Amino acid sequence: MTDSAAPAVLEVEDLRTYIATDAGVVRAVDGVSFTVGEREILGLVGESGCGKSVTCRTIAGLMPSPPARSTGSVRLAGYGERNLLDLSTSELQRLRGEHLSMVFQDPMSALNPVMRVGAQIEEAVAAHEKLSGRARRTRAIELMERVGIPVPERRMRDYPHQFSGGMRQRVLIAMAIAGRPKLLLADEPTTALDVLIQDQILSLLLELQRDFGMSMILVSHDLGVIGEMCDRVAVMYAGEIVELSDTATLLGGPRHPYTISLLRSLPDVTSQSRYLRSIGGAPPALVDLPGGCRFAPRCPLALDRCREWDTELLEAGAGGHTARCWRHEETRREDAWPEPSYESA
Ligand SMILES: Nc1ncnc2c1ncn2[C@@H]1O[C@H](COP(=O)(O)OP(=O)(O)OP(=O)(O)O)[C@@H](O)[C@H]1O
Ligand SMILES: [Mg+2]
Repeated sequence: MTDSAAPAVLEVEDLRTYIATDAGVVRAVDGVSFTVGEREILGLVGESGCGKSVTCRTIAGLMPSPPARSTGSVRLAGYGERNLLDLSTSELQRLRGEHLSMVFQDPMSALNPVMRVGAQIEEAVAAHEKLSGRARRTRAIELMERVGIPVPERRMRDYPHQFSGGMRQRVLIAMAIAGRPKLLLADEPTTALDVLIQDQILSLLLELQRDFGMSMILVSHDLGVIGEMCDRVAVMYAGEIVELSDTATLLGGPRHPYTISLLRSLPDVTSQSRYLRSIGGAPPALVDLPGGCRFAPRCPLALDRCREWDTELLEAGAGGHTARCWRHEETRREDAWPEPSYESA
């Protein structure tokens, strides 16, 4: 079932990815469910280490297994009723590119440093279309033009280190769209870039998403970026989704104390409300997680029961707005929040 108006392109149900490490089993993604509608951009936000990348990599079949093990289901429109978690390596290779593609944070490490850029794009083209050498080259040039790389005929012969960070990201985007995927997973595609370049890359992604009618998951730390780009947003905390809604509601009327704290800690918020404080403490280690709500140890609103029992996502408003908090109805009331203690802030 989809919780957005558009039919779902991606349906993720109770997804768990546990990773075996020397320190124990890391519950990197721990029971996550969401959908992405046709032509929809879903934002994924949350502090470092909360499981955003592992969620994307699991969907794309890119988690090393072992040590990672995933359960739950990931279904893609046009891919029958099959659970993507059950696909073989060769099936996954075909899936990637044609049905979904991924753009990563660090374009340099995703490119082959000793292979000419043109050859790498041609390789991405060849993975999806049987073309003659000449046609493949033409298609690679078209793709480079499409993503805004000037003088592609010449730049094809360069190596990745001869490209700037932004141009390298354009190369990766060209490779990602070579098979015209229905779903693009963009994991912090601009974090490593200068601010000015970030805007250009985001505009390019938005333009391609609209032109090709793609659906997208956009991972970002930047709530400003999320606000501009995304239709809906999922907020993750310690491997779980703690709040999910359309973007305007999430930014304008958040209900989970973590989302509220995240928004109130933005530097450009000028209001002097009680909410205004940085979130103290750190997220729990994802090994040996305590019972109860995972945010409770840092939550100014936590009650005893929050430390004992967790809740599922509860309906918090119209249009599929859900929050994983017993007290979601009270969180909007300023007097529900304790007076800030400035010593500990
Ligand atoms: N290959 C791996 N082996 C062991 N642990 C891993 C591996 N990949 C991720 N993890 C752990 O899984 C958890 C989730 O990591 P993930 O990379 O998804 O976080 P993230 O939300 O993307 O963070 P960031 O914002 O820093 O990119 C972290 O605790 C991380 O240390
Ligand atoms: Mg990440």
